[in-house]
Order: sequence, then C-alpha cells, then structure tokens
Amino acid sequence: MTSDTHAAIWAKLENAKPQTLEQLFAQDDNRLAKLSQRIEFQIPDHGTNGMLLDWSKTHLDDALLDTFEELTDAAGFDAAREALFSGGIINPTEGRPATHGAMRGSGTEGDVEEGNALLARMGMLVNAIHDGALGEVKHLIHIGIGGSALGPDLAVDALTRDLQLVDVHVVSNIDGLALEQAFAGCDPATTLIAVASKTFTTTETMTNASSALKWLSENGVTDPSGRVIALTANPEKAVEWGVDETRILPFPESVGGRYSLWSSIGFPVALAVGMEDFTAMLAGAHAIDKHFRESAGRANGPLLAAYADQYYSRIRGCQTRAVFAYDERLALLPDYLQQLEMESNGKSVTAEGEPVNGETAAITWGGVGTDAQHAVFQLLHQGTRLVPVDFIASIAPGDELDPAHHKALLTNCFAQGAALMAGGNMSADGKDPARAFPGDRPSATFLVDDLDAAMLGALIAFHEHRTFANAVLMGINPFDQFGVELGKKMAKDIDSGEGQFDPSTSALMKAAGLV
Ligand code: F6P
Repeated sequence: MTSDTHAAIWAKLENAKPQTLEQLFAQDDNRLAKLSQRIEFQIPDHGTNGMLLDWSKTHLDDALLDTFEELTDAAGFDAAREALFSGGIINPTEGRPATHGAMRGSGTEGDVEEGNALLARMGMLVNAIHDGALGEVKHLIHIGIGGSALGPDLAVDALTRDLQLVDVHVVSNIDGLALEQAFAGCDPATTLIAVASKTFTTTETMTNASSALKWLSENGVTDPSGRVIALTANPEKAVEWGVDETRILPFPESVGGRYSLWSSIGFPVALAVGMEDFTAMLAGAHAIDKHFRESAGRANGPLLAAYADQYYSRIRGCQTRAVFAYDERLALLPDYLQQLEMESNGKSVTAEGEPVNGETAAITWGGVGTDAQHAVFQLLHQGTRLVPVDFIASIAPGDELDPAHHKALLTNCFAQGAALMAGGNMSADGKDPARAFPGDRPSATFLVDDLDAAMLGALIAFHEHRTFANAVLMGINPFDQFGVELGKKMAKDIDSGEGQFDPSTSALMKAAGLV
C-alpha cells in the first residue's frame, strides 16, 4: 500500500459526515439485517452452536463500509491473511510465521500435522494422569505469566463451573503471596506443578517454579522434579532445569505467547476439563478460522469488528474500548483481551519501521454485567468520553437456579445497549441536565447460543482474528512485543545495582533498602 493511497482513504473516512445512530436506523429499514450476522458451526458430539453478532448499534453505514473495504484491499488484507494461514513470514521483525492456527487444524499440512502430533502427546499425558499413572493427582499449580497464564486461567475458570477433574491454580505474579495462596489450597502429596514458559527463562516463572519445588520437598515429596510438567518452546532449557524429557510438552517457536492457549500451554485446561472438551475448544476456534479465511469484507465477522475498532479509535478519537460479558464464566475475558489486543497492536511503527499515521490499539478494559452497571456504567452513559462497548451474553444459562436469574441478566444486557443508544432525560419535566443522557453511544453485541467449550474457543479465535485484522488495516506487525523489554532490562540493572538511575528511581531504591 502506498502511503498516498492510504492517506487518501483515511481522509475519506475522516471526512464522512457523522450521523447519529437514530438517523442511521431511520434512514435504512435494512440496517439490522445489513449489520448483523449469525456464525454457526457444528462440532461432532457437541451439536450445533452459533453466535449472533450485532453491529447495528455502531455508526458504521454503507458509505463507511465501502471505504473500509477499499482500505482492506489497499492494505493487502487478502495476501496477509493467506500468509497467516500458509506459514508466510507474517512476523517480519522476528523473521517468523505465526502458526497458532495450525494447533487447531488451520495451517499448512506440515504445521497441522505437527500440531496434531503435539496434541496427541499432550492427550496421552493428560489421560495417563487421569488414569493414575502419576499416583493420586488432585491439584495442579500452573505457573506461567502473560500468554502462558491468561488463556489457561480464562479457560479453566470458564469451563469448570460444573465439573473440575483436577483442581487448577494459575499463578503468575512474582509477588510470593500469589504462590502462597495456591499452596494453601493444595495438598503437596497430590499436587503436580506445570511450568509454562515459551522461553523457559522468564524471571517470574522460573522464580515461582523453584519456590514450588522447594515447597514440595519441604512437605515430604521425595522427588519434587518428578512432579513437574514443562510446557515450552525451549525444551533444552527445561531439561537443563531438571525436567525429564517424558514430562516436557513442547510447542513450536512460531506460536506466540498470547496465541498459545491452543498448544501445550492449554495443558491445565485439558487436565481440568478432559481431552474431549479441550478438543471441542480447538474445533470451535477452527470453525472461526474457516469463517475468517473464507469471508470477504463486511461479511467477515472479525474484519467487520476491526472496521468498528478503527472507526472509533482513529476517526472518533476514542482512547478506550470496553468489553462487558454478561456471564460470570467470562469474568477473566477482559484481562485476556487486554494482553491480546494491547501487546499485539500497542505499537507506534509499521511492519516496515515507519511511524503509523494515526492512533493504534485502544486501551481495552471491561468487566462483568450486571456488576459493572453499578460501578462504571455512569461514565459510559453520562461521561464526556465516548467509549465503544461490546456486550457478550449466552442464551443458554450457565446456572441451574430459578430462570429468573438468567432472564434478568439478559434483560439488563439488552437494556444497557438500548439505553446507551437512545439517551433521553429522566426528570419529570425532561429538562434537568443532571438527569440527561446524551445517547448516540455505540455498542456491539455477541449473543451466543450456549457458552460451551467450543463456543469459548470460537470467541477467543474471533478476537485473535479481529486483532490481526486491525493490525493489517494499520500496517503493523501484531506478533512481536519489544515494548516489554526495556523494563525487564532496567529491573535486572536495579537488581544488580549496576548502571546509573535518575534521582527519583535512585531514591526509591534507597528507601526500599535495595541499595
Ligand atoms: O514479557 C512479555 C512476554 O514475553 C509475553 O509476550 C509472554 O506471553 C510472557 O512474557 C511470558 O513469556 P514466556 O512464556 O516466555 O515465559
């Protein structure tokens, strides 16, 4: 894409006359049909499931969609997507492909074969543990951070509300309190430790792993390293650290940390829910890969979502986007999406190293409904900042209580989207400014049939592709994360006491007794 073409298309988007949501609905009887779609998939033994996506309460209209489709072509989206699925070097700064899709059956024949073999190896270990091959196993402490923790934590939390075959504790923070809390909930004699690290060098993870082994040994476990399972793309390091090769579950270097749930990093999920549900999660993700690969322009759900993201971030200047799941099972989704979107697209330069000609990733935040309504929704309804919101809800309830609970959950979800859009004044005379709601505030809704393992996989894959689509439209590489390195280096320098620090940092080090 030449920068002139790029700039001209962005100028066209910027110059489009903004219309209110009310006007957009009034002008087009077909608006709902045009901006909503159902993505349906069938998973063997799990039946049919689907998600209804509704973008009609966003400001996208025919003209904007036409221009975004122009931008899609100019940005070389088709070629980039093809490169993603065919093992092209889509991560140029690290000279790598991004093969997370192959871990769930979407990629080159060779990559998919490798993914299947790694999955089969993990399945054998998971089934052997369930069958007692490692003695009685009641608990797993999964130690990892960032992409080696957030996906497993989300999936275990979402999928084990009814049944958990092994009690899983995910520990990421180097703050010893996190590990102590996990120890308090586990019996050392029946606990396994999973050390999850792509590099097997991350300070937090390796420090926590050593402390976990010490805890086992101090509590009567005679062979602590025999209780460790390593999940890594660096098996040599794991062997060096003392893990037996038979208990190393490797994954390819080309699978990025925040895209690694589908690989052996998903081991705690498989151990907690069983291989059948883990495989269903992969199948749900695969169904979305297929949709993303085969649909064009506005008919492509993740791409359409990226159009809205780009519109609000770059045209309307929104600094954040919020995600509210009206489902307790997705309580950890905002945390997961924060890493996925902000570590992938929080960049200032293009893949070619040129400055990006506009804002990049918005700040992702969110929570669960209805809790968030009683905490942060005030700002969404009456604050001065415009925040595009995603709502996510399931038609089938996750609970077995009186159906009144689920009915109220869905009612509230739909009411919030409607209220944000409609606005109004709640005072008796309709004139009190404190009770005025400006309205015209955008939202999108994901309404899924049933939030089972397959649907969770589908929702996560949808957001991976949405992130990728955003990156392509902005011309940036979503698969590196050099922005995390400087802080790591500074921490090492502070730890070693070497180097010169600014007066503020030096004073803090002194006050804390670090020097
Ligand atoms: O510091 C950022 C990061 O590299 C993330 O991208 C990654 O998910 C996390 O650290 C953990 O890395 P590893 O899996 O190598 O321990």
